[in-house]
Amino acid sequence: MANLAILASGGGSNFEALTRALAPTEHQTAGLIYDRKKAGAAVRAAGLGVPSWYIPYSGRSREEAEAAITDRLEKLSPRLIALAGFMRILSPRFVRRWQDRLINIHPSLLPRHPGTDSIRRSYEAGDKRLGITIHRVDEGVDTGPILLQQSFPRREAVSLEEAEKRIHQLEHRWYPEVVLRLLAEQEIPSPEPHQGVHS
Ligand code: GRF
Repeated sequence: MANLAILASGGGSNFEALTRALAPTEHQTAGLIYDRKKAGAAVRAAGLGVPSWYIPYSGRSREEAEAAITDRLEKLSPRLIALAGFMRILSPRFVRRWQDRLINIHPSLLPRHPGTDSIRRSYEAGDKRLGITIHRVDEGVDTGPILLQQSFPRREAVSLEEAEKRIHQLEHRWYPEVVLRLLAEQEIPSPEPHQGVHS
């Protein structure tokens, strides 16, 4: 059995898709960490019986907030940490600490349209294909090694709302697939106590 930890800031539809996909398996979503008090993800977590922790960034430095996240993650012992709409740029130090365990989902075909508001930007750019990218997290913004991309041809008449809906359907279908595949792999090391994290 392996633990998944999820970091989210918003509505949490990907959090829910992941948690529901793991429920019938030997793996589990061990916890949700969220940084916005009103995150819908926290409401979903309560409904699904997943423990959650609100770790705000306001009123303190990113390093302090990340230290609190790391403390919580060390207790959760996740084999994998899925970012699911977590609207923070992680520091190189945090990324190095959790290297090989951090993955992210992004609603465009990277390397096109990294950053925020990607669906609208790919729609307005007239991209011929729209889609998603699931990737490992490195020290850049949406630049880590790609694990999977899925896309569909963009119809001329498609509205932005229809495109968004279709992209979210792809996310909910494929993020669980990738997470389950990675959890099943043995080569991801179990978390070890890490000296010097708080030095
Ligand atoms: C998704 O589109 C994801 O790709 C992006 O943020 C959005 C999160 O949506 N990183 P939700 O909170 O999971 O509903």
